[in-house]
Amino acid sequence: MIARPEITPPSAEAVARAGALLQAGELVAFPTETVYGLGADATNDDAVRRLFAAKQRPQFNPLIVHVAEVEDADMVAELDDRARSVAQTFWAGPLTLVLPRRSAGPVSPLAAAGLNTLAVRVPGHPVARALLRAAGRPVVAPSANPSGGVSPTTPLHVAEGLGAAVAMILAGGRCPIGIESTVLDLANEPPRLLRPGSVILADLEALIGPVADVGVITEPRGVPRAPGQLASHYAPRHAVRLHATHADSDEALLAFGRDRLVRGGMTRLNLSPDGDLHEAATNLYAMLHSLDKSNCRRIAVMPIPNRGVGIAMNDRLRRAAAPRDQLHQTDTP
Ligand code: TXA
Ligand code: MG
Repeated sequence: MIARPEITPPSAEAVARAGALLQAGELVAFPTETVYGLGADATNDDAVRRLFAAKQRPQFNPLIVHVAEVEDADMVAELDDRARSVAQTFWAGPLTLVLPRRSAGPVSPLAAAGLNTLAVRVPGHPVARALLRAAGRPVVAPSANPSGGVSPTTPLHVAEGLGAAVAMILAGGRCPIGIESTVLDLANEPPRLLRPGSVILADLEALIGPVADVGVITEPRGVPRAPGQLASHYAPRHAVRLHATHADSDEALLAFGRDRLVRGGMTRLNLSPDGDLHEAATNLYAMLHSLDKSNCRRIAVMPIPNRGVGIAMNDRLRRAAAPRDQLHQTDTP
């Protein structure tokens, strides 16, 4: 028997084989500029079902459909002039658009979790785009981690989190941005920011005018508008303590900027000793994965400036720190 998952560099041959695996209904993990995605053929009900099962993802949490080219978005969703202008400006790149779904389109209704909208993105990572071309069809791809856990930014994170459920992992190194795409809802008025990311609110508003910032509102009970908004999400195994100015002797410290005066911590990692927010975002999940393996009681996180991509980092860290006693009960080990 062949060991699963196969972890392989993204040679032309491997990408072609990965495309064929997707066409055969298998799950393939691949790098994007944000985080690793777990891909499945978006037009195949069984493959989409297998994807939900592999992640233990609640069926009500819809998936993002990934396509290779801006023009391919028209196959699956309806783009008005405003959507087209946002797509032309930010795709290929780390932005997801929630759009009216083409009901007669090829995407499995399971992907949209019964909604009449669809989240669509054209990723910028060359391996992701090569795979989408090889598959020759839209591909649903949530972050390649068990539901509720920390997103993967390396092939090893994917293998550790999902293991044998994945047929192949295309190993494209570390994800350069390191935090999930910005999610912008253009299917409602006014447009709404459902999840902050590295494409920031100000850049969206410069193009399309006012955008309601709902990404930071948590809805701990009931079904949220974007389940990335679940209060407890992106959570490591260990508890997380925010705004730390010191670390206890049984805590691991996740530092930011100059940390020499910060005392304590049995293990210490620094997101960016120079205080560079982009570097910090790139490191965030890898360092959380790594500290989570240490023998600490809790992970203490130093304050991160709430500007630029720091807004998205603070959003994820708040959710990582939220109590896990509500919707993600079953994810707690
Ligand atoms: O950067 C990313 O977006 C990564 C890479 C792999 O592309 N993918 C990703 O997927 O983060 P996922 O499934 O982990 O997060 C998708 C988010 C969820 O919060 C989901 O609830 C929201 O998008 N979403 C999907 N479809 C939606 C819809 N129709 N309306 C509102 N929110 C939607
Ligand atoms: Mg996710």
